Amino acid sequence: MNERVLDMPQELKTQIRYGSWLHDCGKIGMGEVILNKESTLTNDEIEIIRRHPVWGAEVARQAHLSQEVINIIACHHERFDGQGYPTGISGEDIPREARIVSIADVFDAITTDRSYHAKRSVPEAIEVMSFLGGSAFDPDFLDIFLSCVENTYIEIHGDCDYGNRE
Ligand SMILES: [Fe+2]
Repeated sequence: MNERVLDMPQELKTQIRYGSWLHDCGKIGMGEVILNKESTLTNDEIEIIRRHPVWGAEVARQAHLSQEVINIIACHHERFDGQGYPTGISGEDIPREARIVSIADVFDAITTDRSYHAKRSVPEAIEVMSFLGGSAFDPDFLDIFLSCVENTYIEIHGDCDYGNRE
């Protein structure tokens, strides 16, 4: 495992764990029809979905959760290049804890079945995400994450070749 991961204070790791559990809590107020829709979303529906970080962060604030948890909920859809939402902040203006959880969130989305796509394999997810450093994701955190995932996968399966596994 990379030393930069180990250097993180234990309390921050704990808050990142809590934030990752709660990151989508703002979706609780959204209709199942939108969340499970298989066809293309309308612009109005996209607008509603894009509010979930703001709604969720407000709930976390009201519940007096930590600033790190609030940051994760508020910023997990921001992108490193500033093309994310809800505010379009970029780079290191995005709190570190949110930059970390956004990577895990997308990996989870790719490797699990969703209403809008079938899950893809871990090697495929690594392949897809490896092109997103500096655009969607913090390139340093992405490198650490993908190497951890790849090493773990190789320990279990013996290799991690894109195209060789389901
Ligand atoms: Fe989300």
